[in-house]
Amino acid sequence: MHKQHPENEQQFGYFDDQKCEYVITNPHTPTPWINYLGNDGFYGLISNTGGGYCFYRDPKFRRLTRYRYNSVPVDNGGRYFYLKSEGQTWSATGRPVHTELDQYSCHHGMGYSRFKASKNAISSQLTSFIPLNTKAEVHQLELKNDGDTTKAVELFSFIEWCLWNAEDDGANFQRNLSTGEVEVEGSTIYHKTEYRERRNHYAFYSVNHPIDGFETDRETFLGPYRGFENPIAVERGKTANSVARGWSPIASHHIKCELAPGESKTLVFVLGYCEVEATNKWQAPNIINKQPAQTLQAQFDTSEKVTAELLKLKNYWQNLLGKFVVKSPDERFDRALNIWNQYQNMVTFNLSRSASFYESGIGRGMGFRDSNQDTIGFAHMVPEKVKERILDLSSTQKTDGSAYHQYQPLTKKGNANIGGNFNDDPMWMVLSTANYIKETGDFSILDEMVIYDGQEQATHNHFDHLERAFNHVVNNLGPHGLPLIGRADWNDCLNLNCFSEDPNESYQTTQRGASDVAESVMIAGQFVLYGQEFVEICQRIGKNELASKCQTHVDQMRSSVEQHGWDGEWYIRAYDANGDKVGSNDNAEGKIFIESQGFCAMAGIGSEQGKPLQAMNSVEKHLSSDFGIMLNQPAFTRYSKYLGEISSYPPGYKENAGIFCHNNPWITISEAMLGRPEKAFEYYSKITPAFLQDVQKLHKTEPYVYSQMIAGNDSANPGEAKNSWLTGTAAWNYYAATQYILGIRPDYDGLLIDPCILPSWKSVAITREFRGANYQIELRNPSGLKKGKVELTIDGVKVAGNLIDPKRFGAKHTVVAEIVA
Ligand code: BGC
Ligand code: NOJ
Repeated sequence: MHKQHPENEQQFGYFDDQKCEYVITNPHTPTPWINYLGNDGFYGLISNTGGGYCFYRDPKFRRLTRYRYNSVPVDNGGRYFYLKSEGQTWSATGRPVHTELDQYSCHHGMGYSRFKASKNAISSQLTSFIPLNTKAEVHQLELKNDGDTTKAVELFSFIEWCLWNAEDDGANFQRNLSTGEVEVEGSTIYHKTEYRERRNHYAFYSVNHPIDGFETDRETFLGPYRGFENPIAVERGKTANSVARGWSPIASHHIKCELAPGESKTLVFVLGYCEVEATNKWQAPNIINKQPAQTLQAQFDTSEKVTAELLKLKNYWQNLLGKFVVKSPDERFDRALNIWNQYQNMVTFNLSRSASFYESGIGRGMGFRDSNQDTIGFAHMVPEKVKERILDLSSTQKTDGSAYHQYQPLTKKGNANIGGNFNDDPMWMVLSTANYIKETGDFSILDEMVIYDGQEQATHNHFDHLERAFNHVVNNLGPHGLPLIGRADWNDCLNLNCFSEDPNESYQTTQRGASDVAESVMIAGQFVLYGQEFVEICQRIGKNELASKCQTHVDQMRSSVEQHGWDGEWYIRAYDANGDKVGSNDNAEGKIFIESQGFCAMAGIGSEQGKPLQAMNSVEKHLSSDFGIMLNQPAFTRYSKYLGEISSYPPGYKENAGIFCHNNPWITISEAMLGRPEKAFEYYSKITPAFLQDVQKLHKTEPYVYSQMIAGNDSANPGEAKNSWLTGTAAWNYYAATQYILGIRPDYDGLLIDPCILPSWKSVAITREFRGANYQIELRNPSGLKKGKVELTIDGVKVAGNLIDPKRFGAKHTVVAEIVA
């Protein structure tokens, strides 16, 4: 266990690696430090003080509980447990009651969070999780009398219902305040707003214990003009058994108990979601069919059942995390790769950019580019889900090969309001598909029949979708033979065809004029890299003619970049709608951008002339900072309608010269490909939370997960992070560290071993599951080389080349990979 104790006021917690937990020891973290519960459709967000909400599949359309974004105080709304004894009131999660606890800790683990609190010799332990395959949050609360006299303790639970559609819930009050409906039966409070009309689902909040009272009307519970910190019902120690009609329905149970010295009591609360067949909705007029809820409650009505479910969840995670385990000389590296990075990969895969403390769950569906990229951090864990996701994405593709920028998880349909024309989108599907096949060897994904957007029946296979993605680039080239950028490429904020002077319009959805001039060098690099990948796929399935046709396009693109995409010391970023360069030394601001350096270097464009190396040196010189690599320099200080949103951000933030972590791994990979392990490791570790424990206060966001953005040198607070959790950084940095630093890289024919580790690392041990086999790999670097040839010994026998062929070496094997000159 790595205990960095929070006597240091910079420090709010520490890692407990044995338990795969991050332990928060101070409730007053700089921002809410959250965890995610659930991994298969039913999800909850839970902060270190119990704030957050839950939803079923779609955080916009099926939100169960209410949460107030950007509220005062922050983090308002959650699953609250008020405890009251001897005239004092406190919260089992440290908030919302202001009472300072005698002891507090929050343990965020893999799919569960545990809160320990104690006050006046009453201790509590709350364990919150969503059991596997369950549409419910379980909150198990254990109360214990640690004192030597008998104590009376009162408990009030609290959640506030969201009226399902989270957007409407926060906006349409003229209707909302009249629709709320509940039912109460025994110890269960049912939320049935809109059930009488078109909804065939309801929610409930129950406890496995008789109750002494309840409240379902918010104002009755809180009292007029009061906040969550001192509800009148708790103050009075009395509930009125209110039944909400309209206004704001809530659920609060009141339980009184007496605990003898040393005695404890455990209660199980279940917050669940039920769907009912349209023909079977009612058990009596206006009385909902409670059967499904009772079945769900019965699954968790004893502590033993709950403990068993928690164990199942732990085993599930242990098994997933066991597929790739590294033991290096740096425990921070191991901690990141073995635990938190993989965990974050699962969360980003599940939720894309929809619901976090920075993403409100109402704005964005699943991003086409984001979701494709997220699969590269996840394919080794649950490949079946990755296959399904890729095919879902594929089915939203348009017949011309372009993509809707987003789709809704509930309908799996492209989001027409946001539309398309982000011209990098299609080619990410080549990356995700190639990566999936390399991991699994499953070429059958290419044969799956997949509809195009809006079609009833699939007439083409997934391979055809990839071919159209490829051709979409070929069919949309600009004057320099470079890909047209459309609305934007990976950088959503480089809006070269928007020309917006109207503050009321969206940079993301406005595109003016025929966009047949502005071009992206980043997409060019992406096309060379993944176009080459597509060529290889064609070859591997025997489409040789197509392969050579496509090769011509890839080669052509290479030479277009060499001719028009090189600025002398680095790759240009783009050409704007006037045909002027963006990201060139000729520009006054924004002379150099990271994205084209990363993609053109990874694609090896101009490597005969040493361009990738030169570009990396320029990145180091102009973009590297103490906290990571900035997106561009110099920052834009003036708004330019020819550049769009990028120049709308103050210097140093977000896409305007912030450290936009997602793209840093592209540089890490490029450095590893060039054989420069120190640079690769430096860039990797600068943004990796496990390495940032000493700057928790500055960094502000959770010290166990990546954030989308870290403020750059031009900002007021370089090093301050924002937008934690849902970022492509997770998948990409994992991919960079495992496949390029450690160099354990799945390929079509097997597992390649091609490390670029720190020369000081003499030995690294890795466990890797791959296509049903298990490899115990030791990387050895006795001469401290930066990069070299790899000599493989499998089960004591020397093998030619650096590929582990799973056809020869199935089952379990010991591999020694020695780096030699
Ligand atoms: C942000 C981008 C984001 C885009 C789309 C912009 O304001 O800066 O990072 O991708 O909005 O929502
Ligand atoms: C966040 C978006 O989710 C992602 O798709 C985009 O590439 C980055 N912002 C950069 O603009």
